Amino acid sequence: MRIGLLGCGRIGQVHAQSIQHIDGVRVSAVADAFAEPAEKLAAASGATVMSSDELIASPEVDAVVIGTPTDTHYDLIHAAASADKAIFCEKPVDMSADRIRDCMAAVNTAGVPFLTAFNRRFDPNFAHLQTQLAEGAIGNVEIVSIQSRDPSPPPISYIESSGGLFRDMMIHDLDMARFLLGEEPVSVYAVGAALVDPEIGKAGDVDTAAVILTCASGRICQISNSRRASYGYDQRIEVHGAGGMLRADNMLEHTVEMATSDGFGKAPAQHFFLERYAEAYRREMRHFVDAVQNGTAISPSIEDGLKAQLLADAASQSRETGVPVAL
Ligand SMILES: NC(=O)c1ccc[n+]([C@@H]2O[C@H](COP(=O)([O-])OP(=O)(O)OC[C@H]3O[C@@H](n4cnc5c(N)ncnc54)[C@H](O)[C@@H]3O)[C@@H](O)[C@H]2O)c1
Repeated sequence: MRIGLLGCGRIGQVHAQSIQHIDGVRVSAVADAFAEPAEKLAAASGATVMSSDELIASPEVDAVVIGTPTDTHYDLIHAAASADKAIFCEKPVDMSADRIRDCMAAVNTAGVPFLTAFNRRFDPNFAHLQTQLAEGAIGNVEIVSIQSRDPSPPPISYIESSGGLFRDMMIHDLDMARFLLGEEPVSVYAVGAALVDPEIGKAGDVDTAAVILTCASGRICQISNSRRASYGYDQRIEVHGAGGMLRADNMLEHTVEMATSDGFGKAPAQHFFLERYAEAYRREMRHFVDAVQNGTAISPSIEDGLKAQLLADAASQSRETGVPVAL
């Protein structure tokens, strides 16, 4: 299988590495808006540099990975679907639910495989937790708690074009909530504030937020986000059910614990997403390749991308209006 990589930035490089670890699969072409990142990645992966249009039309490309900025996804998805290529697309699919619906129509009409890259579903610990839930290990799910905090905020220039914390950052957690609840939320209530950096508030966004999702059965999910955590990338999940509790803790830089007269000490959490989710990115790509090669179902789908976006829109609206939003 030959994969064309659109976008050779941070996430494009991660996906190129994952592809190189899969037998029988290679990066055949790369494209970027700038020559330097494309040439660098082409040299590292043995690929040919092409323009985005050439790559999508190329008979040397069976599938595309879209790792370009979010506002370019719409056009690239339409072009790739028309060219009958399987599509692996970074999250969020687009900032607008209506535009995602357009993409969904194009993908469904073309009948091409499509993966929305919610990588956290492929984290071995979170995936194991979800399997245990699905197998009924703790009985009926009652409360899902997701703690997700970045080590430090991105630059203000990024915040200004990010679509806001709910669509840019919490979208991963909203997808995780759907993955674990086993039921669609029917109501979203959100609060938020700029407690980390007042400049983020001036840019019209929040850096600290909490969301409560409720389901028709009464199941609850609480999500806590911050753009800052002094101890590293904080990624924890706990699910409480009728018969017990499942918890996935942080991955630390190492497992050495030190004990002195001052007490017990452990390592900081792994710094950020590139380290923390390295294995998840590899498993995500392997799932995509296996599904395309064997014609099996792909999950998360473009519909999952849309549903997470609708939750992010509702959270944003609830934060602005101060009242829960019904879905
Ligand atoms: N799943 C995750 O964990 C995760 C992590 C980071 C980023 N992302 C997503 O990945 C996407 C890219 O983010 P990034 O951090 O890698 O950005 P980045 O800026 O590091 O890389 C994007 C690259 O795309 C290139 N580019 C811009 N327009 C292009 C076009 N039309 N055709 C080809 N190349 C083009 C840029 O020159 C740049 O090299 C975003 O949608 C982001 O939300 C997802």
